[in-house]
Amino acid sequence: MKNLIIFYSRRGQNYVNGSVKNLEKGNAEYITAFIKEAVGADVFEVDTVKPYDTDYMVCIEEAKAELKDKARPELKEYLDSVEDYDNIFIVGPNWWGIYPMAMYTQLEKLDFSGKTVHFVVTHEGSGLGGVPKTMKDACKGAKIGKSLAVHGASAPNSKAQVQKWAEKAVK
Ligand SMILES: Cc1cc2nc3c(=O)[nH]c(=O)nc-3n(C[C@H](O)[C@H](O)[C@H](O)COP(=O)(O)O)c2cc1C
Repeated sequence: MKNLIIFYSRRGQNYVNGSVKNLEKGNAEYITAFIKEAVGADVFEVDTVKPYDTDYMVCIEEAKAELKDKARPELKEYLDSVEDYDNIFIVGPNWWGIYPMAMYTQLEKLDFSGKTVHFVVTHEGSGLGGVPKTMKDACKGAKIGKSLAVHGASAPNSKAQVQKWAEKAVK
């Protein structure tokens, strides 16, 4: 079984337990490393050509506008195919209820037929939100596997929980 992780994570200011903090390593980035260590996986990072503002309050407005416009922001690099993989983990933050629009830019380009996708969402209270539902459409042909919501503030300490979940997901 070959595994792939597609992740998006934003370093910089973020909302953590009710106040704005500066994160040197993003929460979804922690989760990605934990999954990779547990089950072994190639990793692809989704990253936008135009960076989001590091200021949290500015970034949430940028993200809100993109969501409203159903934007598909341009990426620095694109993954062409997931043909070589059996399990694909998709890991990213909850932005206004779903993954950032950049995830859709990438995922809508791929053919997931015959693949199983598992979702991890980092969040500050909204949990999985609309991710599993909207991802069904974005990941064409995919079999939907397991989903996990991780509270962002706990992400750096979630190794045991994430690894147990990932091992089960690929079984
Ligand atoms: C633009 C933006 C929108 C967000 N919207 C939500 C939200 O609707 N619900 C929620 O629980 N958390 C929301 N958050 C908080 C993030 O989901 C949370 O901090 C997450 O752990 C960030 O993961 P990352 O560090 O990998 O980017 C938002 C954060 C940002 C920057």
